[in-house]
Amino acid sequence: MSEAAATLRLFFALWPESDLQAKLAAWAKQAAGRGRAMRRENLHLTLAFLGDTEAALVPDLIALATGVRFSPIRLPLDRAVYWKHNRIIWCGAGEEPQALAALVEGLRARLTTAGIRYDRKPFVSHVTLVRDAAGLPEVPAWIPLVWEAGDFALVSSTRVEGRVTYQVLQRFPTQAG
Ligand code: 2AM
Repeated sequence: MSEAAATLRLFFALWPESDLQAKLAAWAKQAAGRGRAMRRENLHLTLAFLGDTEAALVPDLIALATGVRFSPIRLPLDRAVYWKHNRIIWCGAGEEPQALAALVEGLRARLTTAGIRYDRKPFVSHVTLVRDAAGLPEVPAWIPLVWEAGDFALVSSTRVEGRVTYQVLQRFPTQAG
């Protein structure tokens, strides 16, 4: 009888530096109301969600992502929005920068070519700040921020003592500049 292959729940994401993490987490905390503020160390912007993936594919994913060329990204986080369908409050850019769209396109094209499965839903850049946010009368005033991203990351999601915990497996810096 063959054993099931070990899997990891994986995704690629932009991962904020400490200063931005702190600002986002502070806003999320005061906005959470009856919802759940995302923990500071969990904040991110998903580029491609792979879900359960054979752990043995991680070296291939690292090689694939290392080959993605992209320019540094200047992402204005200029609005906070409530999505009724999944009851989250997120922040993001009113207008997506070209460099971000190009990164997502390049990464997803390589995943497709390599035959690696990922969620094909169209990309909508967003940083989830609050979950289970139903019942809020309105989204509190947002303080605009700018995210300067010079790398992206391969991340593994696990549950540790019932809490979703993310581990950055590898970061991929921009080759430009
Ligand atoms: P969300 O914040 O809008 O829920 C880890 O689950 C990350 O991957 C989250 O940022 C989540 O987005 C995103 N994601 C994208 N597609 C997903 C899917 N099909 N299932 C779970 N998470 C997904």
